[in-house]
Amino acid sequence: MSTGEAKVFWHEHAVTREEREKLNGHKGCVLWFTGLSGSGKSTLANLVDHRLYSLGYHSFVLDGDNIRHGLNASPAMLRERHGEEFAKRFGLGFSPQDREENIRRIGAVAKLFCEAGIIAITAFISPYRIDRDRVRATMKPGDFIEIFVDAPLEVCEARDPKGLYKKARAGEIKGFTGIDDPYEPPLNPEIHLDAARHSPEELADIVLDYLKTHGIIP
Ligand code: PPS
Repeated sequence: MSTGEAKVFWHEHAVTREEREKLNGHKGCVLWFTGLSGSGKSTLANLVDHRLYSLGYHSFVLDGDNIRHGLNASPAMLRERHGEEFAKRFGLGFSPQDREENIRRIGAVAKLFCEAGIIAITAFISPYRIDRDRVRATMKPGDFIEIFVDAPLEVCEARDPKGLYKKARAGEIKGFTGIDDPYEPPLNPEIHLDAARHSPEELADIVLDYLKTHGIIP
């Protein structure tokens, strides 16, 4: 009797990662930005992306808000597009399980970018240490560069760019990271950025320096 589990096989690519990296003129890697909502992850990710682009390097930003419009769409979006049953099966919200699956999927996508010799830049809260560590464990040593965008809750809440902290404090959003849902800071990130005291430009410099000193870009 079939268990319903198909056997799948891995196929080697005709063009190797090394060949792609040689063509690109730099190595592939994953820059994994993590931090509270409003810490500046997306701004910084896009700034680093633009700097790399201006230098002629190949990078791409995978951003929480954007990915949650497509690959990891919310139940509400999927309900509208494909109906209730589909939304229940595939929609991702902000429960611990849904955040876990959000990060698992994005980790797999970022790894593919990395294998393609591209500098993948991810900007997700990714609040649970175990989920980030699980992504790290799928990658080769040196490929996963964890970047802690460290801004205290008070600073993020004062910025409140989307007005979400205000809603969370008012009880209009439940399970909001930092308010009534946990954020577990990285214990040993490759890069620890003090995002309350430095400008995005200064922080981008630190990331670019890391890429140079670690031989990812020339
Ligand atoms: S996670 O935790 O990594 O799965 O979250 P992520 O995919 O990065 O999505 C975070 C953005 O979703 C908005 N949002 C929330 N954030 C935290 N908690 C709750 N409950 C929540 N509901 C909506 C918010 O705009 C986050 O965007 P950023 O850019 O981080 O501010």
